[in-house]
Amino acid sequence: METVSIERMTYGIDSLGHLNGKVVFVPYGAPGDKVKLRITEEKNDYLRGEIEEIIEKSPERRTSPCPNFPECGGCHWLHLQPEAQRREKEDALSFILKPLAPERAYPMEPLPMTGYRNKMELKVALDGNKITLGNYRYRSHDVVSMKGCIVQCRGNLEVYEALDAHMNQPAQRSLAENTKSIVLRTLAPQQHCAFYLNNPPTQEMLAAMQAFFDQTETLSRLEAHSEMGNHLTLVREKQPFNFMKRNWRISPNSFFQNNLEGAEAILHTLTSIYQSFQHKGKFIDLYCGCGTQTFLLEAFFEEAYGVECNISSYQDALAYQKTRTSSKTRFICRKAETIFNTPMTKGIIAALHLNPPRTGISQRVMRGLSGIKPRLITYLSCNPMTFRRDAKAIKQMGYKLESVYSFDLFPGTFHMETLSVFVRGL
Ligand SMILES: C[S@@+](CC[C@H](N)C(=O)[O-])C[C@H]1O[C@@H](n2cnc3c(N)ncnc32)[C@H](O)[C@@H]1O
Repeated sequence: METVSIERMTYGIDSLGHLNGKVVFVPYGAPGDKVKLRITEEKNDYLRGEIEEIIEKSPERRTSPCPNFPECGGCHWLHLQPEAQRREKEDALSFILKPLAPERAYPMEPLPMTGYRNKMELKVALDGNKITLGNYRYRSHDVVSMKGCIVQCRGNLEVYEALDAHMNQPAQRSLAENTKSIVLRTLAPQQHCAFYLNNPPTQEMLAAMQAFFDQTETLSRLEAHSEMGNHLTLVREKQPFNFMKRNWRISPNSFFQNNLEGAEAILHTLTSIYQSFQHKGKFIDLYCGCGTQTFLLEAFFEEAYGVECNISSYQDALAYQKTRTSSKTRFICRKAETIFNTPMTKGIIAALHLNPPRTGISQRVMRGLSGIKPRLITYLSCNPMTFRRDAKAIKQMGYKLESVYSFDLFPGTFHMETLSVFVRGL
Protein backbone atom coordinates (compact mmCIF):
# COMPACT_ATOMS: atom_id res chain seq x y z
CA MET A 1 0.00 0.00 0.00
CA GLU A 2 1.39 3.43 -0.97
CA THR A 3 0.94 6.74 0.83
CA VAL A 4 0.26 9.82 -1.30
CA SER A 5 -0.62 13.48 -0.70
CA ILE A 6 -3.33 14.75 -3.02
CA GLU A 7 -2.26 18.05 -4.59
CA ARG A 8 -5.08 19.13 -6.86
CA MET A 9 -7.99 18.07 -9.07
CA THR A 10 -7.54 17.42 -12.80
CA TYR A 11 -9.99 18.44 -15.51
CA GLY A 12 -11.72 15.10 -15.04
CA ILE A 13 -12.95 12.84 -12.26
CA ASP A 14 -9.50 12.31 -10.80
CA SER A 15 -7.45 14.13 -8.24
CA LEU A 16 -3.69 14.15 -8.68
CA GLY A 17 -0.61 13.42 -6.56
CA HIS A 18 2.93 12.12 -7.08
CA LEU A 19 4.51 8.79 -6.25
CA ASN A 20 8.13 7.77 -6.95
CA GLY A 21 8.52 10.62 -9.47
CA LYS A 22 5.37 9.74 -11.38
CA VAL A 23 1.99 11.43 -11.50
CA VAL A 24 -0.74 9.36 -9.90
CA PHE A 25 -4.42 9.83 -10.75
CA VAL A 26 -6.86 9.09 -7.94
CA PRO A 27 -10.66 9.24 -8.27
CA TYR A 28 -12.54 10.86 -5.38
CA GLY A 29 -9.46 12.33 -3.69
CA ALA A 30 -9.52 15.88 -2.30
CA PRO A 31 -6.64 18.40 -2.43
CA GLY A 32 -5.00 18.27 1.02
CA ASP A 33 -5.85 14.58 1.67
CA LYS A 34 -3.15 12.17 2.72
CA VAL A 35 -4.26 8.74 1.54
CA LYS A 36 -3.24 5.10 1.35
CA LEU A 37 -3.59 3.92 -2.22
CA ARG A 38 -3.95 0.64 -4.01
CA ILE A 39 -2.23 1.05 -7.40
CA THR A 40 -4.59 -0.17 -10.11
CA GLU A 41 -2.60 0.70 -13.23
CA GLU A 42 1.06 1.34 -13.90
CA LYS A 43 2.23 3.01 -17.13
CA ASN A 44 5.61 4.44 -18.15
CA ASP A 45 4.63 8.00 -17.34
CA TYR A 46 1.73 7.76 -14.89
CA LEU A 47 -0.06 5.59 -12.33
CA ARG A 48 -3.66 5.15 -11.31
CA GLY A 49 -4.73 4.34 -7.79
CA GLU A 50 -7.78 3.87 -5.60
CA ILE A 51 -8.12 5.17 -2.06
CA GLU A 52 -7.97 2.38 0.55
CA GLU A 53 -7.79 4.68 3.56
CA ILE A 54 -7.78 8.42 4.25
CA ILE A 55 -4.96 9.01 6.74
CA GLU A 56 -5.44 12.81 6.93
CA LYS A 57 -8.68 14.29 5.74
CA SER A 58 -8.58 17.51 3.69
CA PRO A 59 -10.60 20.41 5.17
CA GLU A 60 -12.12 20.68 1.70
CA ARG A 61 -13.84 17.34 1.99
CA ARG A 62 -17.47 17.07 2.97
CA THR A 63 -20.00 14.28 3.28
CA SER A 64 -21.73 14.09 -0.09
CA PRO A 65 -25.21 15.63 0.08
CA CYS A 66 -26.42 13.06 -2.50
CA PRO A 67 -27.30 9.46 -1.57
CA ASN A 68 -26.21 8.20 -5.02
CA PHE A 69 -22.69 9.61 -5.00
CA PRO A 70 -20.25 8.33 -6.16
CA GLU A 71 -21.98 5.13 -7.42
CA CYS A 72 -24.28 6.78 -9.96
CA GLY A 73 -21.41 8.27 -11.99
CA GLY A 74 -23.34 11.43 -12.90
CA CYS A 75 -21.44 13.73 -10.50
CA HIS A 76 -17.72 13.55 -9.82
CA TRP A 77 -16.84 16.12 -7.18
CA LEU A 78 -19.69 16.06 -4.64
CA HIS A 79 -17.19 15.12 -1.92
CA LEU A 80 -15.66 18.64 -2.21
CA GLN A 81 -16.96 21.84 -0.63
CA PRO A 82 -18.63 24.10 -3.24
CA GLU A 83 -15.92 26.80 -3.02
CA ALA A 84 -13.21 24.16 -3.46
CA GLN A 85 -14.98 22.75 -6.53
CA ARG A 86 -15.08 26.17 -8.15
CA ARG A 87 -11.49 27.05 -7.25
CA GLU A 88 -10.24 23.73 -8.64
CA LYS A 89 -12.17 24.34 -11.88
CA GLU A 90 -10.67 27.82 -12.16
CA ASP A 91 -7.18 26.43 -11.55
CA ALA A 92 -7.67 23.64 -14.10
CA LEU A 93 -8.99 26.17 -16.61
CA SER A 94 -6.13 28.63 -16.16
CA PHE A 95 -3.69 25.72 -16.61
CA ILE A 96 -5.44 24.66 -19.83
CA LEU A 97 -5.63 28.24 -21.16
CA LYS A 98 -2.09 29.28 -20.23
CA PRO A 99 -0.57 28.67 -23.70
CA LEU A 100 -3.31 30.89 -25.21
CA ALA A 101 -2.36 33.84 -22.98
CA PRO A 102 -5.81 35.48 -22.79
CA GLU A 103 -5.63 39.21 -21.99
CA ARG A 104 -8.32 38.83 -19.31
CA ALA A 105 -9.80 35.77 -17.58
CA TYR A 106 -12.73 36.56 -15.32
CA PRO A 107 -13.48 34.59 -12.14
CA MET A 108 -15.87 31.70 -12.63
CA GLU A 109 -19.47 32.75 -12.17
CA PRO A 110 -21.06 30.67 -9.37
CA LEU A 111 -24.49 29.16 -9.96
CA PRO A 112 -26.88 27.18 -7.71
CA MET A 113 -25.41 23.83 -6.68
CA THR A 114 -28.66 21.84 -6.53
CA GLY A 115 -31.81 21.26 -8.56
CA TYR A 116 -30.31 22.86 -11.69
CA ARG A 117 -30.62 20.16 -14.34
CA ASN A 118 -33.73 20.26 -16.51
CA LYS A 119 -32.85 17.13 -18.52
CA MET A 120 -32.54 13.59 -17.16
CA GLU A 121 -31.19 10.77 -19.32
CA LEU A 122 -31.97 7.30 -18.03
CA LYS A 123 -30.52 3.92 -18.92
CA VAL A 124 -32.61 0.82 -18.23
CA ALA A 125 -31.38 -2.40 -16.57
CA LEU A 126 -33.26 -5.59 -15.74
CA ASP A 127 -32.20 -7.88 -12.92
CA GLY A 128 -34.72 -10.63 -12.24
CA ASN A 129 -37.98 -8.80 -11.51
CA LYS A 130 -36.25 -5.54 -10.64
CA ILE A 131 -36.00 -2.77 -13.22
CA THR A 132 -33.53 0.03 -12.53
CA LEU A 133 -33.63 3.38 -14.27
CA GLY A 134 -30.53 5.52 -13.86
CA ASN A 135 -26.97 6.37 -14.82
CA TYR A 136 -24.03 4.14 -15.57
CA ARG A 137 -21.77 3.58 -12.55
CA TYR A 138 -18.30 5.11 -13.00
CA ARG A 139 -16.34 3.09 -15.61
CA SER A 140 -18.98 0.37 -15.94
CA HIS A 141 -22.28 -0.43 -17.59
CA ASP A 142 -24.06 -1.16 -14.29
CA VAL A 143 -27.13 1.05 -13.99
CA VAL A 144 -27.50 2.89 -10.67
CA SER A 145 -30.77 4.42 -9.45
CA MET A 146 -31.12 8.22 -9.37
CA LYS A 147 -33.60 8.41 -6.49
CA GLY A 148 -32.92 11.51 -4.42
CA CYS A 149 -30.50 13.01 -7.00
CA ILE A 150 -29.60 16.52 -5.84
CA VAL A 151 -28.73 18.13 -9.16
CA GLN A 152 -31.95 17.23 -10.98
CA CYS A 153 -34.86 19.66 -10.82
CA ARG A 154 -37.91 18.70 -8.75
CA GLY A 155 -40.14 18.20 -11.81
CA ASN A 156 -37.82 15.57 -13.29
CA LEU A 157 -37.48 13.78 -9.95
CA GLU A 158 -41.26 13.55 -9.54
CA VAL A 159 -41.74 12.02 -13.01
CA TYR A 160 -38.75 9.76 -12.39
CA GLU A 161 -40.37 8.36 -9.22
CA ALA A 162 -43.65 7.76 -11.09
CA LEU A 163 -41.84 6.16 -14.03
CA ASP A 164 -39.77 3.93 -11.77
CA ALA A 165 -42.94 2.66 -10.05
CA HIS A 166 -44.73 2.19 -13.39
CA MET A 167 -41.90 0.29 -15.10
CA ASN A 168 -41.53 -2.01 -12.09
CA GLN A 169 -45.07 -3.34 -12.46
CA PRO A 170 -45.09 -6.86 -13.96
CA ALA A 171 -47.44 -5.69 -16.76
CA GLN A 172 -44.77 -3.29 -18.05
CA ARG A 173 -42.07 -5.94 -18.29
CA SER A 174 -42.11 -6.19 -22.09
CA LEU A 175 -41.84 -2.38 -22.42
CA ALA A 176 -38.88 -2.32 -20.01
CA GLU A 177 -37.17 -5.12 -21.96
CA ASN A 178 -37.54 -3.16 -25.18
CA THR A 179 -36.39 0.23 -23.80
CA LYS A 180 -32.84 1.39 -24.47
CA SER A 181 -33.11 4.75 -22.71
CA ILE A 182 -35.61 7.36 -21.54
CA VAL A 183 -35.19 11.13 -21.52
CA LEU A 184 -37.16 13.41 -19.22
CA ARG A 185 -37.08 17.18 -19.57
CA THR A 186 -38.89 19.76 -17.46
CA LEU A 187 -39.09 23.26 -18.86
CA ALA A 188 -42.03 24.16 -16.67
CA PRO A 189 -44.91 24.01 -17.21
CA GLN A 190 -43.87 21.90 -20.21
CA GLN A 191 -42.67 18.42 -19.32
CA HIS A 192 -41.55 15.77 -21.81
CA CYS A 193 -40.86 12.07 -21.62
CA ALA A 194 -39.27 10.30 -24.60
CA PHE A 195 -38.78 6.53 -24.83
CA TYR A 196 -35.97 5.27 -27.10
CA LEU A 197 -36.78 1.67 -27.98
CA ASN A 198 -34.72 -1.21 -29.37
CA ASN A 199 -37.54 -2.35 -31.68
CA PRO A 200 -40.89 -0.89 -32.76
CA PRO A 201 -43.41 -1.23 -29.89
CA THR A 202 -46.17 -3.87 -29.71
CA GLN A 203 -49.77 -2.89 -28.87
CA GLU A 204 -49.10 -3.92 -25.28
CA MET A 205 -46.12 -1.55 -25.05
CA LEU A 206 -48.05 1.31 -26.64
CA ALA A 207 -50.80 0.77 -24.05
CA ALA A 208 -48.21 0.82 -21.24
CA MET A 209 -46.85 4.19 -22.40
CA GLN A 210 -50.36 5.58 -22.88
CA ALA A 211 -51.25 4.49 -19.31
CA PHE A 212 -48.16 6.26 -17.96
CA PHE A 213 -49.04 9.44 -19.81
CA ASP A 214 -52.68 9.31 -18.62
CA GLN A 215 -51.73 8.91 -14.97
CA THR A 216 -48.90 11.50 -14.99
CA GLU A 217 -50.77 14.75 -15.35
CA THR A 218 -47.69 16.97 -15.23
CA LEU A 219 -46.50 15.54 -18.59
CA SER A 220 -47.24 17.71 -21.60
CA ARG A 221 -45.74 15.30 -24.14
CA LEU A 222 -44.73 11.66 -24.44
CA GLU A 223 -42.98 10.23 -27.47
CA ALA A 224 -41.67 6.80 -28.43
CA HIS A 225 -38.91 6.33 -31.01
CA SER A 226 -36.94 3.44 -32.44
CA GLU A 227 -34.52 3.32 -35.33
CA MET A 228 -37.59 2.78 -37.52
CA GLY A 229 -38.93 6.26 -36.62
CA ASN A 230 -41.49 7.80 -34.29
CA HIS A 231 -44.20 5.40 -33.05
CA LEU A 232 -46.19 7.47 -30.58
CA THR A 233 -46.81 11.13 -29.75
CA LEU A 234 -49.18 12.04 -26.92
CA VAL A 235 -49.83 15.67 -26.09
CA ARG A 236 -51.54 17.46 -23.20
CA GLU A 237 -52.25 21.21 -23.41
CA LYS A 238 -50.11 23.28 -21.04
CA GLN A 239 -48.97 26.87 -20.94
CA PRO A 240 -45.78 27.46 -22.97
CA PHE A 241 -42.32 27.41 -21.45
CA ASN A 242 -41.25 30.98 -20.68
CA PHE A 243 -37.57 31.89 -20.70
CA MET A 244 -36.16 35.43 -20.56
CA LYS A 245 -39.75 36.78 -20.62
CA ARG A 246 -40.57 35.01 -23.91
CA ASN A 247 -42.47 31.83 -24.77
CA TRP A 248 -40.52 29.04 -26.45
CA ARG A 249 -41.34 25.68 -27.98
CA ILE A 250 -38.54 23.25 -27.14
CA SER A 251 -39.17 19.80 -28.63
CA PRO A 252 -37.81 16.60 -27.02
CA ASN A 253 -35.12 16.17 -29.71
CA SER A 254 -34.00 19.80 -29.68
CA PHE A 255 -30.95 21.12 -27.90
CA PHE A 256 -31.54 23.39 -24.94
CA GLN A 257 -29.12 24.40 -22.21
CA ASN A 258 -29.46 22.05 -19.25
CA ASN A 259 -29.17 24.81 -16.68
CA LEU A 260 -31.63 27.68 -17.04
CA GLU A 261 -29.92 30.08 -14.64
CA GLY A 262 -26.63 29.36 -16.36
CA ALA A 263 -28.18 29.96 -19.79
CA GLU A 264 -29.47 33.32 -18.55
CA ALA A 265 -26.08 34.31 -17.14
CA ILE A 266 -24.47 33.49 -20.50
CA LEU A 267 -27.03 35.57 -22.40
CA HIS A 268 -26.41 38.58 -20.13
CA THR A 269 -22.66 38.30 -20.67
CA LEU A 270 -23.09 37.94 -24.43
CA THR A 271 -25.22 41.10 -24.48
CA SER A 272 -22.58 43.09 -22.65
CA ILE A 273 -19.86 41.82 -25.03
CA TYR A 274 -21.78 42.70 -28.18
CA GLN A 275 -22.87 46.09 -26.82
CA SER A 276 -19.28 47.20 -26.58
CA PHE A 277 -18.47 46.58 -30.27
CA GLN A 278 -19.36 48.60 -33.38
CA HIS A 279 -20.95 46.22 -35.88
CA LYS A 280 -21.24 46.84 -39.60
CA GLY A 281 -22.16 43.81 -41.70
CA LYS A 282 -23.57 40.35 -41.14
CA PHE A 283 -23.81 38.18 -38.06
CA ILE A 284 -23.60 34.37 -38.21
CA ASP A 285 -24.53 32.10 -35.30
CA LEU A 286 -23.03 28.70 -36.17
CA TYR A 287 -24.48 25.75 -34.17
CA CYS A 288 -27.43 27.92 -33.12
CA GLY A 289 -29.77 25.26 -31.63
CA CYS A 290 -33.26 26.74 -31.11
CA GLY A 291 -31.81 30.23 -31.54
CA THR A 292 -31.87 31.54 -27.95
CA GLN A 293 -28.55 33.31 -28.54
CA THR A 294 -29.28 34.25 -32.17
CA PHE A 295 -32.48 36.11 -31.27
CA LEU A 296 -30.65 38.09 -28.63
CA LEU A 297 -27.68 39.03 -30.81
CA GLU A 298 -29.47 39.74 -34.12
CA ALA A 299 -30.48 43.15 -32.74
CA PHE A 300 -26.90 44.40 -33.08
CA PHE A 301 -26.65 43.71 -36.84
CA GLU A 302 -28.08 44.60 -40.24
CA GLU A 303 -28.38 40.96 -41.33
CA ALA A 304 -28.23 37.72 -39.32
CA TYR A 305 -28.02 33.96 -39.98
CA GLY A 306 -28.52 30.98 -37.68
CA VAL A 307 -27.07 27.63 -38.78
CA GLU A 308 -28.17 24.37 -37.17
CA CYS A 309 -28.10 20.81 -38.52
CA ASN A 310 -30.69 19.29 -36.16
CA ILE A 311 -34.10 19.56 -37.81
CA SER A 312 -35.99 19.64 -34.53
CA SER A 313 -33.98 22.58 -33.10
CA TYR A 314 -34.21 24.38 -36.45
CA GLN A 315 -37.98 23.99 -36.53
CA ASP A 316 -38.27 25.24 -32.94
CA ALA A 317 -36.23 28.33 -33.90
CA LEU A 318 -38.66 28.99 -36.78
CA ALA A 319 -41.68 28.39 -34.52
CA TYR A 320 -40.38 30.96 -32.05
CA GLN A 321 -39.54 33.41 -34.84
CA LYS A 322 -43.20 33.35 -35.97
CA THR A 323 -44.23 34.68 -32.54
CA ARG A 324 -42.02 37.76 -32.87
CA THR A 325 -43.13 40.97 -34.49
CA SER A 326 -39.76 41.43 -36.12
CA SER A 327 -36.73 39.23 -36.57
CA LYS A 328 -34.07 39.64 -39.23
CA THR A 329 -32.43 36.20 -38.88
CA ARG A 330 -32.46 33.64 -41.69
CA PHE A 331 -32.29 30.18 -40.14
CA ILE A 332 -30.66 27.50 -42.23
CA CYS A 333 -30.82 23.80 -41.50
CA ARG A 334 -27.51 22.40 -42.66
CA LYS A 335 -24.10 21.40 -41.41
CA ALA A 336 -21.77 24.24 -40.48
CA GLU A 337 -19.20 22.64 -42.80
CA THR A 338 -21.32 23.47 -45.86
CA ILE A 339 -21.92 27.22 -45.44
CA PHE A 340 -18.66 28.48 -46.86
CA ASN A 341 -18.63 29.84 -50.42
CA THR A 342 -22.41 30.38 -50.28
CA PRO A 343 -24.15 33.81 -50.43
CA MET A 344 -24.31 33.81 -46.58
CA THR A 345 -20.55 34.06 -46.26
CA LYS A 346 -20.07 36.67 -49.02
CA GLY A 347 -19.69 40.36 -48.13
CA ILE A 348 -18.64 41.73 -44.75
CA ILE A 349 -19.09 39.36 -41.82
CA ALA A 350 -19.01 41.59 -38.75
CA ALA A 351 -19.23 38.86 -36.12
CA LEU A 352 -19.46 35.13 -35.72
CA HIS A 353 -20.78 33.27 -32.68
CA LEU A 354 -19.69 29.64 -32.24
CA ASN A 355 -21.22 27.15 -29.81
CA PRO A 356 -20.21 23.71 -31.10
CA PRO A 357 -20.77 20.34 -29.35
CA ARG A 358 -18.05 18.96 -27.02
CA THR A 359 -15.96 17.79 -29.98
CA GLY A 360 -15.39 21.42 -30.99
CA ILE A 361 -14.94 22.75 -34.50
CA SER A 362 -14.09 20.44 -37.40
CA GLN A 363 -11.06 21.13 -39.58
CA ARG A 364 -13.38 21.84 -42.48
CA VAL A 365 -15.18 24.59 -40.56
CA MET A 366 -11.85 25.97 -39.35
CA ARG A 367 -10.59 26.19 -42.94
CA GLY A 368 -13.82 27.98 -43.90
CA LEU A 369 -13.45 30.45 -41.02
CA SER A 370 -10.01 31.47 -42.21
CA GLY A 371 -11.63 32.73 -45.41
CA ILE A 372 -14.40 34.91 -43.91
CA LYS A 373 -12.45 36.95 -41.35
CA PRO A 374 -15.11 38.42 -39.06
CA ARG A 375 -13.85 41.24 -36.83
CA LEU A 376 -15.34 39.61 -33.71
CA ILE A 377 -15.62 35.91 -32.83
CA THR A 378 -17.34 34.73 -29.65
CA TYR A 379 -16.90 31.07 -28.78
CA LEU A 380 -19.09 29.37 -26.15
CA SER A 381 -17.63 26.02 -25.20
CA CYS A 382 -18.48 23.17 -22.83
CA ASN A 383 -15.09 21.52 -23.30
CA PRO A 384 -11.94 23.56 -22.52
CA MET A 385 -9.71 20.93 -24.14
CA THR A 386 -11.27 21.17 -27.61
CA PHE A 387 -11.64 24.91 -27.08
CA ARG A 388 -7.88 25.20 -26.52
CA ARG A 389 -7.16 23.35 -29.76
CA ASP A 390 -9.61 25.55 -31.71
CA ALA A 391 -8.46 28.78 -30.04
CA LYS A 392 -4.87 28.09 -31.11
CA ALA A 393 -6.05 27.80 -34.72
CA ILE A 394 -8.15 30.99 -34.42
CA LYS A 395 -5.19 32.91 -32.99
CA GLN A 396 -3.04 31.72 -35.88
CA MET A 397 -5.53 33.41 -38.22
CA GLY A 398 -4.55 36.78 -36.71
CA TYR A 399 -6.98 37.05 -33.77
CA LYS A 400 -6.24 38.20 -30.25
CA LEU A 401 -7.90 36.30 -27.37
CA GLU A 402 -9.25 39.31 -25.51
CA SER A 403 -11.22 37.73 -22.71
CA VAL A 404 -12.46 34.47 -21.26
CA TYR A 405 -15.55 34.24 -19.05
CA SER A 406 -16.40 31.01 -17.27
CA PHE A 407 -19.58 29.69 -15.70
CA ASP A 408 -20.05 26.91 -13.15
CA LEU A 409 -22.89 25.47 -15.20
CA PHE A 410 -22.54 21.91 -13.87
CA PRO A 411 -21.75 22.03 -10.13
CA GLY A 412 -20.87 18.67 -8.58
CA THR A 413 -19.14 17.60 -11.81
CA PHE A 414 -15.79 18.63 -13.30
CA HIS A 415 -17.55 20.21 -16.28
CA MET A 416 -17.65 23.94 -16.93
CA GLU A 417 -18.67 26.38 -19.66
CA THR A 418 -16.42 29.09 -21.10
CA LEU A 419 -17.25 32.07 -23.27
CA SER A 420 -14.31 33.63 -25.10
CA VAL A 421 -13.92 36.77 -27.14
CA PHE A 422 -11.53 36.98 -30.10
CA VAL A 423 -10.88 40.21 -31.95
CA ARG A 424 -9.07 40.41 -35.28
CA GLY A 425 -6.19 42.83 -35.50
CA LEU A 426 -6.82 45.69 -37.94
C1 LIG B 1 -23.92 23.10 -27.71
S1 LIG B 1 -25.31 23.13 -28.76
C2 LIG B 1 -25.59 24.86 -28.88
C3 LIG B 1 -26.96 25.32 -29.28
C4 LIG B 1 -27.28 26.79 -28.99
N1 LIG B 1 -26.19 27.67 -29.25
C5 LIG B 1 -27.81 26.95 -27.59
O1 LIG B 1 -27.03 27.29 -26.68
O2 LIG B 1 -28.99 26.71 -27.37
C6 LIG B 1 -24.61 22.67 -30.28
C7 LIG B 1 -25.59 22.62 -31.42
O3 LIG B 1 -24.87 22.38 -32.63
C8 LIG B 1 -25.61 21.49 -33.44
N2 LIG B 1 -24.61 20.88 -34.33
C9 LIG B 1 -23.75 19.87 -34.06
N3 LIG B 1 -22.93 19.65 -35.10
C10 LIG B 1 -23.27 20.55 -36.07
C11 LIG B 1 -22.78 20.83 -37.38
N4 LIG B 1 -21.76 20.15 -37.91
N5 LIG B 1 -23.37 21.83 -38.08
C12 LIG B 1 -24.41 22.55 -37.55
N6 LIG B 1 -24.91 22.31 -36.31
C13 LIG B 1 -24.35 21.34 -35.57
C14 LIG B 1 -26.30 20.56 -32.47
O4 LIG B 1 -27.45 20.00 -33.05
C15 LIG B 1 -26.64 21.52 -31.32
O5 LIG B 1 -27.90 22.09 -31.46
